[in-house]
Amino acid sequence: MRLSRRAHPSPWRRAITTILVTGGAGFIGSEFVRYTLANHADYDVVVLDKLTYAGNLDNLRPVSESPRYRFVQGDIGEATTVEPLVDGADAIVNFAAETHVDRSLLDPGSFINTDVYGVHVLLEAVRRTGGKARFLQVSTDEVYGSIEQGSFQESDRLQPRSPYSASKAGGELMAQAYFETYRLHVVSTRGSNTFGPYQYPEKIIPLFVTNALDNLPLPLYGDGLNVRDWLYVGDHCSAIDLVLHEGRAGEAYNVGGGNERTNLYVTETILQLLGKPRSLIKPVADRPGHDRRYSLDCAKVRRLGWQPQRDFLAALRETVDWYAANEWWWRQLKSGEYLDYYKQNYGQRDTAAAESARP
Ligand code: NAD
Ligand code: DAU
Repeated sequence: MRLSRRAHPSPWRRAITTILVTGGAGFIGSEFVRYTLANHADYDVVVLDKLTYAGNLDNLRPVSESPRYRFVQGDIGEATTVEPLVDGADAIVNFAAETHVDRSLLDPGSFINTDVYGVHVLLEAVRRTGGKARFLQVSTDEVYGSIEQGSFQESDRLQPRSPYSASKAGGELMAQAYFETYRLHVVSTRGSNTFGPYQYPEKIIPLFVTNALDNLPLPLYGDGLNVRDWLYVGDHCSAIDLVLHEGRAGEAYNVGGGNERTNLYVTETILQLLGKPRSLIKPVADRPGHDRRYSLDCAKVRRLGWQPQRDFLAALRETVDWYAANEWWWRQLKSGEYLDYYKQNYGQRDTAAAESARP
C-alpha cells in the first residue's frame, strides 16, 4: 500500500537551499550541477565524488568559480564522510555509481560496493540525521531487463540481467525499503541511454565518435541490431529536477527519450556526420547476456509536466561536433588505465566468429 502525502509531516516538503549531488563529477551528474546552478538561483550545490576513472573535475570547470558550488572528494560508502554532508543538505541526488556494463562483466564487486552498499550508506545517513532531506536515486531502465515488444511501465517486474543492472536494482530497492520502513522521502528515476558532451569515452557514442576521429575501428557488438532509447543529457537532467521537486515519495519514474535506434543506425549516423567510411565498422563478438532492446512508457513523468526538448539527430550532430572541437577533454582520458581496460574488453573478442554476423 502506498502512503498518502498527508501521512507525512512537513519536513518532506521543506524548501531546498542546499543540494548534495553525489557523483557530480561524472557525465550526467556534472550536467545536473550546471543545470541546477543555472535554473535555481537560490540553491547551493555541494558535490561529493570519489573521482574514480570516470570522475573528472574538467566536467565541472564551467561552474568552478561559482560561489554557490563546493566540491568534496570522497566515497559514498564512507559514513564518516557522508553524514555531515547529508546533515547539511535539504536534498540528495545520487548519481554516484559504477556505470559501465562491460566493466561490470569484468569486475562485479566494485559495482556492488558503490551501487548497492554506497546507496545504503547514503540512506542510512539520511535516516540518522532525522530524515530531513529528500533523496532521489538516479536509477536506470536496465533494471527491467530486456523487452522484445511493447514498453516497460513502472509497475513491471524488475529483471536485471547484468551485474551492473542487478546492482542498480539493488540500490533502488534499498531506497524503496527506506521509504517503506523509515518513511524517508525517497524517489527514483529510471533513465534510458543518455548522450551528450562530457561522457567518458567508453560508452558507445563517445567511443565511436572519438575512434572515428582517429580513423580507428568501431567495435560493434554482435549483429548491431540491439536497440537503445536515446535521451539527451539536458533532457535527462530536467526530468530528474522535476521528479526531485514534484515526484511522489516512494515512487519510481521512467525517463526515456523516445528515440529507439539500433546500434548499427547510430554507428552509421556518426560516420556520416564525420564524413568517415563505413569500413571503420568492425563487427566483434557480442557482449555476454547482451540486452536486446530497452523501451519505456513515460506517461507517468509526462503527467508531472516533463517532455524531452531535443530532437535526436540535431542533438547527436551537436554532440559529435562537441567531441570534434574538444580533443583536449577526451584525448587525455584515452591513456593509462583506459588502454588497459580497452585491451581487456576488446582484445580477447573472437572477431573471426563475429565476421559471420557482419551487417
Ligand atoms: P559516470 O560513470 O560518468 O559518472 C559516475 C560518477 O560517480 C563519477 O564521477 C565517479 O567518480 C563517481 N563515483 C563512482 N563511485 C563513487 C563512489 N563510491 N563515491 C562517490 N563517487 C563515486 O556515470 P553517468 O553516466 O553520469 O551516470 C550517472 C548515474 O546515472 C549513474 O547512477 C547511472 O547508473 C545512471 N544512469 C546513467 C545512464 C547513462 O546512459 N549514462 C542512463 C540511466 C541512468
Ligand atoms: O540504458 C541505460 C544505461 O545505458 C545506463 O544505465 C548505463 O550506465 C549506460 O552505460 C548505458 O548502458 P549500455 O550498455 O546500453 O551502454 P553502452 O554505451 O555500453 O552500449 C550501448 C549499446 O552499444 C549496447 O547495445 C552495446 C553496444 N556497444 C557498446 C560498446 C561500448 C557496442 O556495440 N560496442 C561497444 O564498444
